[in-house]
Amino acid sequence: MAKEKEIKSIEDLPGVGPATAEKLRQAGYTTLEQVAVASPFELAELLGISADNAKKAIDAAKQATTINYLEASKVLERRLSIGKISTGSKGLDELLGGGVETNGITEAYGKFSSGKTQLGFQLSVNVQLPVGKGGLGGGTLFIDTESTFRPERIQEMAKAIGLDPKTVLDNIYVVRATTVEQQILTVERADKLIAEKGIKLIVVDSLTSLFRAEFIGRGGLAERQQKLNAHVHKLQNLADTFNLAVYVTNQVIDNPAILFGDPTIPVGGNIIAHAATTRLYMRKSKEDKRIVRIVDSPNLPEGEVVIKITPEGIRD
Ligand code: GTP
Ligand code: MG
Repeated sequence: MAKEKEIKSIEDLPGVGPATAEKLRQAGYTTLEQVAVASPFELAELLGISADNAKKAIDAAKQATTINYLEASKVLERRLSIGKISTGSKGLDELLGGGVETNGITEAYGKFSSGKTQLGFQLSVNVQLPVGKGGLGGGTLFIDTESTFRPERIQEMAKAIGLDPKTVLDNIYVVRATTVEQQILTVERADKLIAEKGIKLIVVDSLTSLFRAEFIGRGGLAERQQKLNAHVHKLQNLADTFNLAVYVTNQVIDNPAILFGDPTIPVGGNIIAHAATTRLYMRKSKEDKRIVRIVDSPNLPEGEVVIKITPEGIRD
């Protein structure tokens, strides 16, 4: 009886021979992990095989990677150990149980000027601090859908905590997405960048603005919802696979009925509510003060804290 081949590299996947493996490598799929998080359709198209066969290869890669983790208990320990990124405010860190967590999605929602983008900048800087010093010693993939990324502001924040501004900018990979498709593809193809550059934080600012704009323009509620759902799942998938943190922003609109037909739900609706591990509601207070509240978190107590947006960045 033929013994099942142990899967140690992409060549060992079902239906993948040396030539196919080479095609995979050239497209950036060099590890089993990368194949494990690929989409069947993308892989099918790339290799000229059926989606079913692509799915078989992906499933095998998933299984093989899981088994590897179990065998290497040290690797497992490290991968499963949740990392935290400091927000710059001790009060907010405490509220979050130490900071913004890896392996999950943190959503900040609130009106304009509530500080969602500023917090995204601060996390992009702080993630570069060493582990134990408020960071994860990693870089950031920053997906900017609103053209509000400001390198000058990043430099200010970096200087304020004693990091070299140039190094910090070099470790932030900015993608300016102008369509839903660009936003989705950036996330779907992020595996290679994450692995090569040691990305520990993905920021999507904002998660919903393009979806909202295109929905109004094109119609097709179900399709939009489905796409947003898949997009958010892929983000969660990356967070799990690479033990990284995902921070997304989301604006509150006056008439959410425009999006999903239910006037009581915020932008993105149930999809984000269910997918986000932690939801932060941010609102403006006097001058540079902002109030941050944790909303229906399964593992954190409800509560709110006041932060400040100072010239140095987010502080108590
Ligand atoms: P929208 O994207 O419009 O929904 O808003 P947002 O929630 O992303 O707001 P954002 O994070 O851009 O916060 C804007 C606020 O941060 C401004 O009102 C300023 O008070 C503050 N801010 C922005 N840039 C700076 C800066 O360079 N220095 C200081 N001290 N404060 C800034
Ligand atoms: Mg913003």
